[in-house]
Amino acid sequence: MKKIEAFIQPEQFEAVKKELFAAEVFKMSVSQVKGCGQQKGYTESFRGQAVDINLLPKTKIEIAVNEDFVQPTIDAIIRGARTGNIGDGKIFVLDLPQCIRVRTGETGSKAIG
Ligand SMILES: Nc1ncnc2c1ncn2[C@@H]1O[C@H](COP(=O)(O)OP(=O)(O)OP(=O)(O)O)[C@@H](O)[C@H]1O
Ligand SMILES: [Mg+2]
Repeated sequence: MKKIEAFIQPEQFEAVKKELFAAEVFKMSVSQVKGCGQQKGYTESFRGQAVDINLLPKTKIEIAVNEDFVQPTIDAIIRGARTGNIGDGKIFVLDLPQCIRVRTGETGSKAIG
């Protein structure tokens, strides 16, 4: 099992979701975050309040998948998110040791799918 975490441009989210659904990936968690990549972010004080200068809004998508869905999920995210511009996003793939469905107590691959 793997956990895929993608940080994408918010305006690409609908396209990414469409590609994920087309790849039969329906389970996901989505949140709005702030982030920066290699263009570097920093925080400055403006009238006594901390202001994020280069921390830009990003959409974070978290998806837990069984092994056979890892590459299709990555490919779908790239298809939806890539414009060729700086800041298109980044995908992290993490090992996922366990998953438990609360209602049934199912664990592992059964609980993810
Ligand atoms: N090393 C990292 N650790 C944690 N989050 C990251 C990292 N790199 C990127 N991110 C997250 O991903 C978002 C998108 O990153 P981004 O696409 O700007 O990557 P990049 O490496 O700067 O590539 P590019 O040069 O194409 O912009 C960032 O705003 C941040 O939220
Ligand atoms: Mg960047």
